[in-house]
Amino acid sequence: MPDMKVNLAGMTMKNPIVVASGTFGFGREYNEFFDLGELGGICAKGLTLLPREGNPAPRIAETPMGILNSVGLQNPGVDAFVKEELPFLRQFDTKVIANISGNTPEEYGIMCDKLAEAGVDMIEVNISCPNVKAGGLAYGTRPDLAAEVTEMAKKHAGNVPVMVKLSPNVTDITEIAKAVEGAGADAVSLINTIRGMRIDVNTRRPVLKMNTGGMSGPAVLPVAVRMVWEVANAVSIPILGMGGVAKGEDAAQLMLAGATAVAVGTSLFADPYAAINVRDGLAAIADRQGLASVGELTGGVQPW
Ligand code: FUM
Repeated sequence: MPDMKVNLAGMTMKNPIVVASGTFGFGREYNEFFDLGELGGICAKGLTLLPREGNPAPRIAETPMGILNSVGLQNPGVDAFVKEELPFLRQFDTKVIANISGNTPEEYGIMCDKLAEAGVDMIEVNISCPNVKAGGLAYGTRPDLAAEVTEMAKKHAGNVPVMVKLSPNVTDITEIAKAVEGAGADAVSLINTIRGMRIDVNTRRPVLKMNTGGMSGPAVLPVAVRMVWEVANAVSIPILGMGGVAKGEDAAQLMLAGATAVAVGTSLFADPYAAINVRDGLAAIADRQGLASVGELTGGVQPW
């Protein structure tokens, strides 16, 4: 079998498969299905400085080949994560990535201080949540603000690598990728969800209470592959690719497009073993192609 180890911005993972933030909670429920140490990494539910209840329901709806969500960053806050959830996650032989969202650049800085001290393996700086008014997407659609948040995170993250999560809801994702690379980001992750809307034709009401939400699931895979490819051609920092991954071939596509590692998200809601199956499917593809290491897939696309 090929060597499945990969190195994402200095963080060595036993395999390239990470579970995406917001789709795995803090791992407790999935731990009833499999040993979390099977995963390359766990990206925990997005954190804010203070606890948040999130947006009013309904806040999740199905779409053809995916879902629409407007969860609104429900979470217990960074201090509760450090005290109660991180010790649980630390029992497993896997990398722990904390995902953070702030209302101001200063809030990102404070959270980075706390998480660096707590000893997470990586911090994913979320500047792409489409479901909150302050922060979130506001930072992810302007290169200058994306750079400001990245600089703040880097200043406070100590030796912990900083990965910035990019939004697909922009005209040119490479502009934001280049801005955060210039501001010192160690890696980028993409794509977050694509803004969408559904309407109940009988009530004439949007199906989500917040009217719009973020779309994810298999329908977005081709958008993710295209954007990973564009970003890989624009920056030199490594990429965690995600968006619609449900099987090994999907992960292989993202790696061929330029991703070093791949996150599995929405498919976990239909199949709690999805990330394990993706890992095994990816290993089988690398084996079939006679690769010594799965990392040989990264950037291997041969465009016409
Ligand atoms: O609404 C949410 O909690 C989604 C967060 C995100 O997409 O980053």
